[in-house]
Amino acid sequence: MKIDVLIVGAGGAGLYAALSAVKENKDLNIAVLSKVYPTRSHTGAAQGGINGALANVDPTDNEELHTFDTIKGSDYLADQEAVKYMCYEAPKIIREMEHMGVPFSRLNNGKIAQRPFGGASKDRTCYSADKMGHVMLHTLFEQCIKEGVTFLNEWFMLNLVHNGKRLVGVTAINIATGEVELIKTKAVILATGGHSRIYWGYTSNALGCTGDGTAAILRAGLPVKDMEFLQFHPTGLRKSAILVTEAARGEGGHLLNNKGERFMAKYAPDKMELGPRDLVSRSIMTEIRENRGFRDEEGREYVQLDLTHLGAEKIKKRLPQIRELAIDFEGIDPIKEPIPIKPTAHYAMGGIDTNVKCETPMEGIYAAGESQCVSVHGANRLGGNSLLDIVVFGNVAGKEAVRYAEGTDFAKGGEGKKEEEVKFIKELMNKESKETLGDMRNELGEIMFKHFGVFKNEDEMQEGYNKLKNLIERAHKNLGVEDKSKVFNLDLQSTLEFFNLLEIADVLAYASLQRKESRGTFFRDDYEKRDDENFLYHSVITRNSDGSFNYKKGEVQLGLYEPAERKY
Ligand code: FUM
Repeated sequence: MKIDVLIVGAGGAGLYAALSAVKENKDLNIAVLSKVYPTRSHTGAAQGGINGALANVDPTDNEELHTFDTIKGSDYLADQEAVKYMCYEAPKIIREMEHMGVPFSRLNNGKIAQRPFGGASKDRTCYSADKMGHVMLHTLFEQCIKEGVTFLNEWFMLNLVHNGKRLVGVTAINIATGEVELIKTKAVILATGGHSRIYWGYTSNALGCTGDGTAAILRAGLPVKDMEFLQFHPTGLRKSAILVTEAARGEGGHLLNNKGERFMAKYAPDKMELGPRDLVSRSIMTEIRENRGFRDEEGREYVQLDLTHLGAEKIKKRLPQIRELAIDFEGIDPIKEPIPIKPTAHYAMGGIDTNVKCETPMEGIYAAGESQCVSVHGANRLGGNSLLDIVVFGNVAGKEAVRYAEGTDFAKGGEGKKEEEVKFIKELMNKESKETLGDMRNELGEIMFKHFGVFKNEDEMQEGYNKLKNLIERAHKNLGVEDKSKVFNLDLQSTLEFFNLLEIADVLAYASLQRKESRGTFFRDDYEKRDDENFLYHSVITRNSDGSFNYKKGEVQLGLYEPAERKY
């Protein structure tokens, strides 16, 4: 198979990249490869909205304030020109999506509605009730179909193939047939999403968020950046960790401890429940640690998110999905009772190292979206900036990849890599499992949540890393595939995804141990302060051929705002 520009992943970043690419040059063969049917991508789980300084609610808002809020929110680790680019593109790209047919909620005057969100100084988050990601995903998919993008649905990417100088192609399995293929491509855009499933049972992420592109980058000897920064969203449902949107607090929801206190008054007196996520998650965990949380019969600890005072009409109109989720997964109607919540692993600020053109250091390989670290979120992302990031940088990646593909031909070679993949999969399928995948995934999630959770310290992380190394060794020795069939073998796919998760957890744990400070979402009890003198840098990591890691310090691009203490 030969494709000029191949986009891996059919979430918002992948679809926007495909759309931009096809609009840029209709004569190229542009395809999206996705392991799920596109409308099942994780972008559909994004709830509360997309940020852009449209100034529809507050006429004093502007792109500069958006830029500043984002940099401050990032704890000054974001690259400032990249943030500025994203924030200045926001109004334009949101209006473009409006014209494509994205059904935004509206103000009485007909303009796109905007709501307050965490860490933002103005009401800047454009929304569609509490289903923003869902409606964006469907609209972008429709547009791709209309523009003639080719889709390889239910294909699973295995690895990147390059010749040391440039991309040759990717290897992938057609899930429907079990056949492994080498897809020759001039340019690939990895839009494979985040990797919070390393926290297995403690995450808001879809089952498919297994960092496939990021793991492939590591195996290809290419760099990942800032992997230690993984964000906990303050409000996941107590039992399932499913997301309860920040919009619930934006619409006026209160966080309560077991004394009935709005405890955020202690931690963020000005912003209260709308402090940035790192601060709100730590505040919730502090309340729980200091026995001001609740504990259910099964020992789960949580605090309450109270929406009852908002009234039935507002909840039904602005937060219908939250109500549905709370009823279905907690048996609680938020119109009548507070929702039990706890922080949930939500978003990877770290990922594939790219520049602002979405280029990795290897010619022909690009990344966009959550799998990419450009970096616009630094040490802590603001809510509503993810849906923005994916479309802004999806757009850039699509255009850049087309430009590159126009000026080059297909590289030769790669067939040997396909043979290697076929052999590896055959061996895995023939292997007798000595442990079960389900147990091992749970074990991974427990290790990560306990040792690399909201609060960390050296001893806990070192102990966790030792456990993780043991798990990795056992997985490679003991895991085989029980289902021996070829057609839709999800057992095989889940096993390969688990190997990707282990790859990511390994590098995240390693990166965490190197950073001896607290910054944004990365908080250590043993180094509570941010240390700009020694740690204001991006961690840039590659894997050596002997399996060890190579760690470099990447410069943080400042220039607009001097790092300052964050107060909310
Ligand atoms: O809370 C939310 O609705 C999530 C939004 C985001 O992660 O940007």
